Amino acid sequence: MLTMKRLILIPLSLAFILLLGACGMNLNNMNPFQMMKSSDDRPGNPMMMMHGKGNTQMVDSTGENELNIPPVLESDKETGNNISYAIEAKKGQTEIFEGIQTETLGYNSSFLGPVVKLKKGQTAHLKLKNSLDEETTFHWHGLIIGGEADGGPHDVIQPGEEKEITFKVQQEASTLWFHPHPLGKTAKQVYEGLAGLIYIEDDMENPYVYGENDFPLIIQDRTFNDQKQLDYRFAQFPDGTIGDTLLINGTLNPRLTVNKEKVRLRLLNGSNARNYTFKLSNNQSFEQIASDGGLLNEPVELTELQLTPAERAEIVVDFSEIEKNEDVELITDDGTVLLPFKVKGEKEEVKDEMLEPLNPVTISNEEMQQQVSKEIVLSGMGHHVSINGKKFDKDRIDFIQKKGETEIWEIYNKPNMMGGAIHPFHIHGTQFKVISINGEEPPENLKGYKDTIALDPGDKAIIAVKFEEAGIYMYHCHILEHEDNGMMGQIKVE
Ligand code: C2O
Ligand code: CU
Ligand code: CU
Repeated sequence: MLTMKRLILIPLSLAFILLLGACGMNLNNMNPFQMMKSSDDRPGNPMMMMHGKGNTQMVDSTGENELNIPPVLESDKETGNNISYAIEAKKGQTEIFEGIQTETLGYNSSFLGPVVKLKKGQTAHLKLKNSLDEETTFHWHGLIIGGEADGGPHDVIQPGEEKEITFKVQQEASTLWFHPHPLGKTAKQVYEGLAGLIYIEDDMENPYVYGENDFPLIIQDRTFNDQKQLDYRFAQFPDGTIGDTLLINGTLNPRLTVNKEKVRLRLLNGSNARNYTFKLSNNQSFEQIASDGGLLNEPVELTELQLTPAERAEIVVDFSEIEKNEDVELITDDGTVLLPFKVKGEKEEVKDEMLEPLNPVTISNEEMQQQVSKEIVLSGMGHHVSINGKKFDKDRIDFIQKKGETEIWEIYNKPNMMGGAIHPFHIHGTQFKVISINGEEPPENLKGYKDTIALDPGDKAIIAVKFEEAGIYMYHCHILEHEDNGMMGQIKVE
């Protein structure tokens, strides 16, 4: 049946195709599936942007599978302040759908990776091995680390090769992650399963216990083909690949069983391109306690929270008043069920220990008054994305900055004639502070350290950036297809 929406969409779709032609986009490069999808619900599609949404609807989680909790990686050796780990990127098969093996990639496992725990002050020795049959890199997203160990596109490890890196852990307790970064192939490798978590700990006591009331949630959307395989070439879309199937920690149709108590959830948007606005189905509020780079100065009470690709947030949800058969779910703002919770047991002593950040984040007067010295303009869509009008060139250094000195960067998301899209802007090797967004003080939950910031079309953010280490670092849009399409630049810190 042709609905009203359809009737409007048809002429609009034609307009879209004409526009693409006018933009010089080669439609022959798109397979028929994408052509069909792009006239209806793919991101980057002007119709959807006019509606202010760029999302294929995801299927609700039925909650039939208990959430997989990634194992904590065991160290090879720990002596004094030194800790050694071995991390191997490899291929494997994973039973995501009952009784079916899906070809996947993972770190030290067939799919995704373990939690790598590091402590502030430690010297870490990581032995990295590439057991894939293609080149890869190991990038530590959010880690303050020298450029030579950061794992950007220059740092390729060939199939079968190993590399050892050593660095000092110098930042506060936080939830970071690691993923590959090979030039032009980041999106595909992450899509196929390469992503793991890094937990930095410091002297602060964590009253929560991993796997008991402290859970990571790696949120990803994927498209599986008829054989239930992840076929990136089939699924990919130049403006950002999104899927209809949700996986959390690699679990299909996940549910999480919790006690009647406060629970700490560490959310990572590990998707290639999808944005999520998280809510609880009963509209209950929760507290955000940490952002990308660690604890906020104070918990922030929220009823919804947006994460764009690569962003993290730690939230505390109070289940102590939830009765056994009440349905509480983690949902998105459009009502998609991501994670049903099953509340069990009796009410526990509710922990009210506040997590106090050891090093509160402050913005000095000096930083407030400092002039902008680096300007970044994000623009374009699909294959036509750029930063400051240029595409990534591995032989070009775009900016220089002095180690240990704060500079003020202005990041602008330039709208296009169709409106534009949110670009999550990320800088390697540092945690920055947000000074303002569109001339206004940032919201409370953006007042902590960040390594990725979401910019709506037309948004201008002012951030204070300091690198503690030297080297060459990337900055880029974290829609992985935008990154692969050249929406990336490099800065040399000396
Ligand atoms: Cu999540 Cu360039 O990285
Ligand atoms: Cu990064
Ligand atoms: Cu982008």
